[in-house]
Amino acid sequence: MSSVTVIDHPLVQHKLSVLRDKNTSTAKFRHILAEVSHLLAYEVTRDLPIEYVELETPLQTMQAPMLEGKKVCLVSILRAGNGLVEGILQLIPSARVGHVGLYRDHETLEAIEYYFKVPPHMETRDVIVVDPMLATGNSAIMALDKIKTTSPKSMKFLCLLAAPEGIAAVQKAHPDVPIFTAAIDEKLNDLGYIVPGLGDAGDRLYGTR
Ligand code: URA
Repeated sequence: MSSVTVIDHPLVQHKLSVLRDKNTSTAKFRHILAEVSHLLAYEVTRDLPIEYVELETPLQTMQAPMLEGKKVCLVSILRAGNGLVEGILQLIPSARVGHVGLYRDHETLEAIEYYFKVPPHMETRDVIVVDPMLATGNSAIMALDKIKTTSPKSMKFLCLLAAPEGIAAVQKAHPDVPIFTAAIDEKLNDLGYIVPGLGDAGDRLYGTR
């Protein structure tokens, strides 16, 4: 069974509450989501491998810790995933970025793929798949299925909010993929929205409603 880490740092929780507030403007939502993504990235990258390289400080030579290996790959589940990716890139500017385009059939809530592009050499990369909302889990499972065909070195799933139903579904389909989230909400409603949630993350981010 994959692990679930709830990033319950007070700064994350405060910012998440601002994002939940229906009166938060699009501009503020975007800004705060970028801020939260820094804090989430800090936790999700905690175990990235380190190598020691020799460098000279102004005082002496030392073996200094640096990130090891090929560049991390962030994979955004379009479109709301981009809101998290942009913030994480400020912290890990050399990360490579892949995109998975999925839309939800509003009748069946099934995920349907329309785009997939990831960087080369995935087998050497630690991959962080990002989508702010883990709701039914259908999109996350489909994205993880597809990314797994590229044989990445490791995969993690990072979201802002998760529903218990989505966590259970991802754990069942991908027991090897750890899940990181800022909160686990009560449930999904009949339309597949997380309750209490924050609404449609893409619409809140891009002002499309
Ligand atoms: N996607 C969203 O943007 N919000 C939800 O509540 C569920 C899925």
